[in-house]
Amino acid sequence: MTAESPSLTPQPSSKIPSSDYHPIIIRLETITKIYGSDNTKVKALDEIDLTIEKGEYCTIMGASGSGKSTLMNIIGCLDRPSSGRYYLDSVDVSGLPDAQLAAIRNRKIGFVFQQFHLLPQMTALENVILPMIYAEVSPTERRDRALEALERVGLGNRVNNKPNQLSGGQQQRVAIARAIVNQPVLLLADEPTGALDSQTTEEVLEIFESLYQAGITVVVITHEAEVARHSRRVIWFKDGQVVHSNLSPHELHSVVN
Ligand SMILES: Nc1ncnc2c1ncn2[C@@H]1O[C@H](COP(=O)(O)OP(=O)(O)O)[C@@H](O)[C@H]1O
Ligand SMILES: [Mg+2]
Repeated sequence: MTAESPSLTPQPSSKIPSSDYHPIIIRLETITKIYGSDNTKVKALDEIDLTIEKGEYCTIMGASGSGKSTLMNIIGCLDRPSSGRYYLDSVDVSGLPDAQLAAIRNRKIGFVFQQFHLLPQMTALENVILPMIYAEVSPTERRDRALEALERVGLGNRVNNKPNQLSGGQQQRVAIARAIVNQPVLLLADEPTGALDSQTTEEVLEIFESLYQAGITVVVITHEAEVARHSRRVIWFKDGQVVHSNLSPHELHSVVN
């Protein structure tokens, strides 16, 4: 094999042979979110239009207060827009009642947060098993799938450790295993490396890369250009609006500076 071998530079489109068609997984149409009422009104999202295709690896960036977490909550079915339409995997979820929204969330989306949100009294394995209990997976399958997910994030030898027996980077990897164990169509991460040092940030970014290579749609909110540089597309927010919907990570310096 030579250094020019194409296999050394995998192309995203090579995952789906003989077709360039990628279904749209997130479609936002004139999404507005207003918090409060009357004189306390804040327009956190201002008529957002945005689409993300299945299998993309995007980061969402922008100054503090620009609406990133508000957008994340809506994309993650944790909150509803004040107006506009949101289609998740072709289903209009903008007006669904709480119970249906929760069901769709549990089935389709895996979440990773800055502070890991692991249950401290449970082992890594038990933490990863938890979402499968809600999803009514059988006990033996739960265990097999949890072990497999922990292997996938490189923690096959730490499954019986509790969070306080793991480093920050390892805890975040448990959280990623928990997020992917129900085979979500979408992995959403809000500042996933915000509590990590640069070494463990790299570990987490390697896992996102491998999930992306395996075809999972990955959407990461971050204020760190270094994190965004690992993604394939940067979406830039300002004052509740998308000011750049498809920046190449290489073009980031033109926005940051
Ligand atoms: N629950 C809330 N109630 C009122 N205002 C809010 C609430 N959440 C966010 N905001 C406001 O909405 C705007 C966007 O916030 P947010 O989405 O958290 O931005 P970011 O994540 O980019 O820092 C900010 O002005 C913020 O103060
Ligand atoms: Mg935020």
